[in-house]
Amino acid sequence: MPMMNRRRLLGTAMAAGAMATAMRAVGGGAAGPIFLTPGPVRFDLTGRGMTEGMMGFTPEGPPPVIRLRQGVPAEILVENRLEEITTVHWHGMRLPVDQDGVPWLTQMPIGAGETYRYRFTPPDAGTYWYHPHCNTLEQIARGLAGLIVVEEAEPQAFDADLALQIRDFRLGGDGQFIELYKPRNMARGGTLGTVSTVNWRVAPVLAAPAGGLVRLRLAVTDVTRVYELSLAGAEAALIALDGQPLPAPEVLPVPLVLAPGQRADLALLMPAEGQEVALSFARTSGKSEVLATVRATGAPLGRSLDGLAPLPPNPTPLPDLARAERLDFTFGWSPDGTAPDTGGFCGDVPYRFWSINRVPYAGDAPPDPARPGRPLATLTRGRSYVLRMLNETQNDHPIHLHGLAMHLLGPEGRPTGRVQDTVLLRSHESAEVAVLADNPGDWVFHCHVIEHQKSGLAGFIRVA
Ligand code: C2O
Ligand code: CU
Ligand code: CU
Repeated sequence: MPMMNRRRLLGTAMAAGAMATAMRAVGGGAAGPIFLTPGPVRFDLTGRGMTEGMMGFTPEGPPPVIRLRQGVPAEILVENRLEEITTVHWHGMRLPVDQDGVPWLTQMPIGAGETYRYRFTPPDAGTYWYHPHCNTLEQIARGLAGLIVVEEAEPQAFDADLALQIRDFRLGGDGQFIELYKPRNMARGGTLGTVSTVNWRVAPVLAAPAGGLVRLRLAVTDVTRVYELSLAGAEAALIALDGQPLPAPEVLPVPLVLAPGQRADLALLMPAEGQEVALSFARTSGKSEVLATVRATGAPLGRSLDGLAPLPPNPTPLPDLARAERLDFTFGWSPDGTAPDTGGFCGDVPYRFWSINRVPYAGDAPPDPARPGRPLATLTRGRSYVLRMLNETQNDHPIHLHGLAMHLLGPEGRPTGRVQDTVLLRSHESAEVAVLADNPGDWVFHCHVIEHQKSGLAGFIRVA
């Protein structure tokens, strides 16, 4: 057990709801079900007028932050107000497979006008997110992505809790959507958005107590962009990745690289009243752009990052490395670029540019007895595995595994203490992760650059 920090004991109670967070929060255990209504919305994203053709999880627009508590059952009712099928997936949460939200693999899709009930108990605290798992190239691109905060069973002593959803929208100069992707980009790094936002706002200004300790939750929900982030005007420590606490707070890397699907929790020490902390990212041109600003307000709280204790660990035991079986996964080109005809379900695209172990994913479709979906690998429940992942292309691939925690291994296969659900493999990089096959079911394994996922870089791993 880490030494308990006196300041944490003396610290003020967490004031998540009291602070001016940019986004409405819903949820909280016994408060009854949470309602989500995926459907069309219009919203003034740019401050220059309404963007038409957006999709939101509530009629107001910006998807609410869902706040749950570790170990407390949650119920979420999803009323599909779209004119197409959808599902909701709870990214990074280790749930029973029938709650995982993958069309046909784990549930029947939610038809237009239908309501579907999800029920689960979050096993892990941390920062997660929710999004459809159907026609994601449209549905996420048009706005369907929101954050989930799972509070620790024991409250943590931060003075404020800010959740920042970082993403682009692909808009023209008139603030309206332009073509969501270009096939030639799909075969390369993916199609970048044009307007970068935080919580559906361009460069919002948030507030937090001067001299206070802020839990800053950063989540990249973009369909394509690997964000290279930097923070100016405050000291900060990295305390969790993909919702999973680090064994000890770490110096914030410069830049902090967060790829589609990934999250980072920071402990941020706010400066004196009136001063500002700026979160920026580097555009591919190298130009830096401010994403959001946090202004220090009120009487100084005089907190410190010295002796900051780690967050309490989640129940993600280290796999048995000595007895783990090794499995290889190669992410590469597709042997041929043509797509099987899956009938156009869930926004299937007519291209297969990418593959895992040379097999491009067939696409989301109702099961076809003539062509049953084959798992990439079948793991035995309760056993440990080391997945060796190789990116043999020059593009970035944030590789995401549902349902199972990936323990990132370092040199000579030693654990790094990082537990992730999305591992970024940059150009020609490889990585090893250890996985304990403790959750039975079919778990999707895919690149979270959605154009790559939709054009073949996907598959599933079976735990039986
Ligand atoms: Cu964020 Cu398969 O999903
Ligand atoms: Cu996921
Ligand atoms: Cu990819």
